[in-house]
Amino acid sequence: MALTISTARSVPKAAELTAVGVHKNADLPAGVDADVLASRGFDGTLGKVMIASGASGLVAIVGLGDPAELTAGSFRKVGAAIARASRRHKAIATTVLGDVDGAADVDPIAAAQALAEGLQLGAYAYNEWKSSPASYDLRRVAVVGSTAAATRKAVDIGAAIAEGQALARTLVNEPGGTLTPPELATRVQAMAKESGLKCKVMDKAAITRAKLGGVLGVNRGSTNPPRFVELTYTPKKANTATLAFVGKGITFDAGGLSIKTGQGMMTMKCDMGGAAAVIGAMSALKAAEVPVAVKAYLPMTDNMLGGDATRPGDVLRIRNGKTIEVLNTDAEGRLILADALSLASEAKPDAIIDLATLTGACMVALGPKIAGLMSNDDELAATVESAAARAGERVWRLPLPDDYRKMVDSPVADMKNIGGPHGGAITAGIILSEFVADGVSWAHLDIAGPAWTDAEDSETRKGGTGFGVRTLVELARSWA
Ligand code: BES
Ligand code: MN
Ligand code: ZN
Repeated sequence: MALTISTARSVPKAAELTAVGVHKNADLPAGVDADVLASRGFDGTLGKVMIASGASGLVAIVGLGDPAELTAGSFRKVGAAIARASRRHKAIATTVLGDVDGAADVDPIAAAQALAEGLQLGAYAYNEWKSSPASYDLRRVAVVGSTAAATRKAVDIGAAIAEGQALARTLVNEPGGTLTPPELATRVQAMAKESGLKCKVMDKAAITRAKLGGVLGVNRGSTNPPRFVELTYTPKKANTATLAFVGKGITFDAGGLSIKTGQGMMTMKCDMGGAAAVIGAMSALKAAEVPVAVKAYLPMTDNMLGGDATRPGDVLRIRNGKTIEVLNTDAEGRLILADALSLASEAKPDAIIDLATLTGACMVALGPKIAGLMSNDDELAATVESAAARAGERVWRLPLPDDYRKMVDSPVADMKNIGGPHGGAITAGIILSEFVADGVSWAHLDIAGPAWTDAEDSETRKGGTGFGVRTLVELARSWA
């Protein structure tokens, strides 16, 4: 359950605990025994927390690290650490934002937003299937310091973005046999109603009429029907700019007839992580007062191996008329994204951003925590890079060289759906680029690595991470 985060001039009486920031080698709050803390290993490292008793009751001492290295983004870690350490308390307060004053380079508004994001993310838990969930009592946090309207707004926006990210996490964490395409579409409809978005759901008949041959081809092996969902956000004040977000929505990827190994399939409920990130971001646009119109395109199917599954060698005709020879049915994401990018292109947006858990090759290249960024437009790539940096999500650009196009040449169709043995993230990107209309700016984020984590740290829980939500919202908020 989400936290209620408020701003306050001073520590409220109801606070059972106050979280206080301490820089490396700095003095501790009054009444806290320095020897006890040191013996428990507290050294002021960013994000380290110890609960101690101070002169005015319980305090959570939070490390802020070296003051010279403090950034607005540090407060996301700090917030998450506070929420985790305080989970046994219902209502807490924190004075950590006061420590921004000493740090010249830290924007206090960005810090307030990041703190709220961290608090909310640190309190996240997926308990849907637990008979006795680990108790998590934290409900209310008072952020003590400025109560200026700008601070309050930043806290509200940070909380809304993190709630969007929590939604993305939960959608990824839901099992593939539960969150089928129709169920995912139903959840999106409910979110749209709550978040002031227009929502259009296409069923299989509508998808067939729309000639989404990629979605239909991937769906052939499944008993669950596909869905294609479009969401529309229209800002209050009219603005001519429009963005399109596209998200891969494979609700489970068994690989199709080119079946995955048992090991390879274990986390494949995460294969709608791109769609989940787009859904989470869309849910926060209104609260974040995003000034541009945004449309989301979400193709949804699972990739199974039923009796009439797409066979290697089959050819699919995509929405824009181009044909793809399917030589490996496990390279399915590009097939459904091809339809979605074609549709998104038809609306001629100022930019298309797609997110997809697309290739294991991208994880080989960049590891588990960094997304691959590919684009047909250097300026857009730089804009995405800077939005991601502000949002505290790591991306790294990979090239889309023209002379690699021949790696996906097919003897029978316009292209095949796999490249050679090397550069798999790039050849996947090249295939996607074939479905972005000429003249449309497009960026692709391969989030196969960061959409999922097996490691617990302050901001993340095992499972879905909701990676991409913050970058998308930041990009839309700052779109010029
Ligand atoms: N969904 C997978 C990619 C993936 C792998 C995401 C691991 C997250 C973690 C994708 O559909 C896939 O299977 N890609 C293949 C492509 C290959 C057959 C060309 C891959 O990466 O092996
Ligand atoms: Mn696959
Ligand atoms: Zn996949």
